[in-house]
Amino acid sequence: MLGETRSNLLWIMMLLFCASCAKYSAQFEDKTQQQLPNAPLIQTVYLIGDGGNAPANQSTPLFDHLTEVFSIADSKSTSIWLGDNIYPVGLAPVGHEDRALGEHRLKVEMNSLKNFKGKSYFIPGNHDWYEYGDQGVLRQEEFVESYMTNQELHASRGQDEYFVPSHTCGDIKEVIVNDQLVILLMDSQWFLNQVDKYPSDHCLLHSRKDFENQLLAFAEKHKEKSIIFAAHHPVYTYGQHGGNISFSNHFFPLRQLNKKLWIPLPFVGTASGKGRTVVTHQDVNHVMNKYYQDIIKRAMAKSAKSILVSGHEHCLQFIERDDQYFLVSGSASKKEAVKKGEGTLFSMGEHGYAKLLYYENGQTWVQFVALDKKADSYTVKFTHQLKF
Ligand SMILES: [Fe+2]
Repeated sequence: MLGETRSNLLWIMMLLFCASCAKYSAQFEDKTQQQLPNAPLIQTVYLIGDGGNAPANQSTPLFDHLTEVFSIADSKSTSIWLGDNIYPVGLAPVGHEDRALGEHRLKVEMNSLKNFKGKSYFIPGNHDWYEYGDQGVLRQEEFVESYMTNQELHASRGQDEYFVPSHTCGDIKEVIVNDQLVILLMDSQWFLNQVDKYPSDHCLLHSRKDFENQLLAFAEKHKEKSIIFAAHHPVYTYGQHGGNISFSNHFFPLRQLNKKLWIPLPFVGTASGKGRTVVTHQDVNHVMNKYYQDIIKRAMAKSAKSILVSGHEHCLQFIERDDQYFLVSGSASKKEAVKKGEGTLFSMGEHGYAKLLYYENGQTWVQFVALDKKADSYTVKFTHQLKF
């Protein structure tokens, strides 16, 4: 009897907690679907994040889908690869047993661009820096530049570099897409946790303060235009980097170490989910991450048409907060549950990507595409017009 009561109490606790758990299914502020305008586009920007986990010797359904999407996209298009391009620890040196898998994971991503007529930019994430530090990032840069410049359409792209910022510097890459749109590409992992570790004599920026000054200066320079701020780390997120973990991880936290460990530890799981966000640079409650968030938001505030696009969190999110837009697209090769938080207009813990559509009439729209399990295909899950 006592055992049964305890069991019931555990289930009641689980259900109560579950109400605040992160979910994999699509969540909306407003389920009403909007329709894209039938008007000429001046630019489409594809946003793909955390794509570096393809299985050995294989592509993935998402990259097969993207290959088709990119092959019919016109030259007024840009793809931004939002970091964590190689899991788990970046590109190993030639001769290392992990080198082949690292190259394969990059090639799967780059092969999807074989017939893409637009421009493409790869930025690093924390996993690209792990283990090998600046040497791993440098190797990845060299590999990407070499592979992309050998691709069939390189000459027509007219692009001088693909992996940015270059030479493991924190220097922000300014891309003037047209007279209405600018993209600022950053290495947020350099800012959060690498800037003090490696020589920067060959770089323009040498410190976090330099980064802050350069970002604010670029934002001021382009304040009359639409600005896409692109960095691996989000400012707002309601997935595990924001301290929100799935139902399973709340109650069975050891499954994060081993999928077979179904041992209920509800308070441990909940506490570890919240506590880790203060301890690691990678999560939103860490003091350095808060400094990063503050700089990004101040830069964004200079233009009335700003958006931060990022990966890192393995889900899709579109958040409107403080009259600014924050997009997370980090589920190109991994997926995690996500909670609906303050300002969430859309979120989903499924494989997918996002795109921003800039129209000749001045309108800007966002669209998220994700795996539809029932249809076994990638379909549009959310379409929304931005207020500017
Ligand atoms: Fe990451």
